[in-house]
Amino acid sequence: MRTSKLMALAASLGAALALPTELLQQPLGDATPSSFLKVQQELRKAEIIPTVIDDFLPSLTLTVSWKKDAADLGNTIKPKRLQKQPTLLLYDEAGPEGLSSSDLSYVVTLTDPDAPSRDNPEWSEMCHWIAANVSVSQKTVSILPMPIFGMEEVDEASAPDDVIEYKPPGPPEKTGKHRYVFLVFAPRNGTTEPLHLSKPEDRQHWGTGEERGGVRDWARENDLVPVAANFMYSQHKKQ
Ligand SMILES: *[C@@H]1O[C@H](CO)[C@@H](O)[C@H](O)[C@H]1NC(C)=O
Ligand SMILES: *[C@@H]1O[C@H](CO)[C@@H](O)[C@H](O)[C@H]1NC(C)=O
Repeated sequence: MRTSKLMALAASLGAALALPTELLQQPLGDATPSSFLKVQQELRKAEIIPTVIDDFLPSLTLTVSWKKDAADLGNTIKPKRLQKQPTLLLYDEAGPEGLSSSDLSYVVTLTDPDAPSRDNPEWSEMCHWIAANVSVSQKTVSILPMPIFGMEEVDEASAPDDVIEYKPPGPPEKTGKHRYVFLVFAPRNGTTEPLHLSKPEDRQHWGTGEERGGVRDWARENDLVPVAANFMYSQHKKQ
């Protein structure tokens, strides 16, 4: 009786212990944090992969925030909330031991593949922003990428350099929801030298002159590879 009681106790303890052990072992077996898989999955679901960019697995996290809203992998934000240049925060969930380098400078782009509408993207893609010299934040950030609101104290020294200035999303009337896609790129060869980026001649078609010509072509031309992304939808209030 006593033995079996002890055994039952041991068994229930074992069961209770099994869960945390499993949870602890999971990240060791799979080096890819689930948040990166989630970003990839959402990009595929919204057909940003493969329409806008070839398939890739992010290695950094990007938050994009305006005064009252933040891009959150496919939420919908009113155009009037997007008028000012947003605050970008790029960070490495692995912290200082992560793969990112504080010497590398990253490039952030914003593109609209749905101009003037997703059904008829004849002006697509439209370049809304190219910001260079974006560095990985050294701040300690929560593991969960929480939207960060009201971050207005932009450190001037770390403000990005515009190759193409921020043009707020302005989806025309009756054109449905547009996807507004932020992509972060790193130099393919990992150089820490300043990048000499080409400036698209036109926002429309990113200067390629071709329908669907856009960020993928520009990144290829500049030897850049995608490392992070975020996106939201926006539409004109008259539909
Ligand atoms: C990025 O910073 C470097 C060094 O300060 C500068 O030479 C370069 O022009 C900057 N890039 C852009 C696009 O402004
Ligand atoms: C790395 O690529 C850039 C173009 O993105 C080029 O200007 C630079 O010379 C390359 N650096 C090295 C060390 O290969």
